[in-house]
Amino acid sequence: MLDNRVISNKHNNPNNDRSKDDLKKRSLDIYEDDTFFDLVGYGKLIYHPEKLVGIKNETNPFPITATVSLGNFCNHGCLWCSTAYFREDDAFAIDGDKLINWVTKAKDKGLRGIGYVGNGEPLAFKKFKIISKKINDLDIDQGIFTNGYLIDRYEEELLQFAYVRISLDAGTAGTHSKLHAVKENHFPKIIQNVEKLIKNKKDNFPTVGFQFATHQDNIGELELAVKIARDIGVNYLSVKPVFDRGTVKDKIARNSLTKKDFDEAVGNLSKYRDETFKIFYRPQQIISESMEQNQLVYNRCYAPYLGVNIYEDGGIVGCGPHHVEVGNLDTPLDELEKNIIKASKSFDLVKCPAGCRYHAANYLVNQVIEPTKIKKTKHINML
Ligand SMILES: C[S@@+](CC[C@H](N)C(=O)[O-])C[C@H]1O[C@@H](n2cnc3c(N)ncnc32)[C@H](O)[C@@H]1O
Ligand code: SF4
Repeated sequence: MLDNRVISNKHNNPNNDRSKDDLKKRSLDIYEDDTFFDLVGYGKLIYHPEKLVGIKNETNPFPITATVSLGNFCNHGCLWCSTAYFREDDAFAIDGDKLINWVTKAKDKGLRGIGYVGNGEPLAFKKFKIISKKINDLDIDQGIFTNGYLIDRYEEELLQFAYVRISLDAGTAGTHSKLHAVKENHFPKIIQNVEKLIKNKKDNFPTVGFQFATHQDNIGELELAVKIARDIGVNYLSVKPVFDRGTVKDKIARNSLTKKDFDEAVGNLSKYRDETFKIFYRPQQIISESMEQNQLVYNRCYAPYLGVNIYEDGGIVGCGPHHVEVGNLDTPLDELEKNIIKASKSFDLVKCPAGCRYHAANYLVNQVIEPTKIKKTKHINML
């Protein structure tokens, strides 16, 4: 398995090193996060009280969800892609039978969801059809991040999903073609695919969202993307920054947008928000990116208790950025659990990159575990 931090040595700070003193300045009571109860937030942990109790007692480390990389091939070439370096390796796809076998056993341990993200484009793999069908038959919730170009091939399967998120990143075919390094005909086909998927929804599912990785080269098209989203019935747009990772600085300039730029751009979009259309924006991602580090206000990360990443070589990784393997698809699940506890205790948080998706979860979990630290600021005792 390639280690993205090693091969991506063009990055400013490949090992995410920084002073340990930075952590000492931080504590749970100096931070706020109002995205908990969003669809993309971690307030959903209240639906897993046994997990919170388990974390406190070190009794329930098995992840609730797993993201899966079906393989390292992609039909797009986004200029910032953080997984582009995996594609310098030979094309490789996951062993579908092993994956299904693992998910079947993992369900008994508490696994509830599978998200297809990974080192390439999940829909570029023919085995997506059989894998997603079998996982659906196991009654495990599924979601996917996709560039959207091949949605029409797998509409029947995707209509069974909890969510489909399309990495659109543009409001016009020209900008999309430039930033995703594809022909201009991809953009209209993606929009057409999404429109058709939405028309064929049953009982309002899947939830369909656009993601917009925002950079100085596309921030001007946020409003156009929102208009398209609303026109065709997309449920939400998630705004995030292009992080200084992957091929940033090789293929595209570093993101120069400031939090003010984001606040203004997202503020201008508020007129499009209503009951049926949401806009998700996590200012902490922009702040942490500009500070070149995550906003850590706690001393321990519980990411693998909540989700692990399964790579195409069968490796199971407890934290992508730290690249800590907790086992593989052959590892006995009891051993995997022990490794998860060990990994969670071993992460050197000083080395966490900016914008980690588990930051919001860690903030919540650490508050639950150490309520005395926030007792006064949050009036937690039902006052
Ligand atoms: C690596 S892709 C894999 C799944 C699929 N091919 C897709 O594009 O959605 C997953 C997500 O990571 C995002 N991403 C990749 N590199 C990024 C970076 N440097 N900054 C911000 N987002 C990035 C992409 O925009 C995409 O939404
Ligand atoms: S579509 Fe996804 S995996 Fe492919 S290049 Fe773009 S971000 Fe990377």
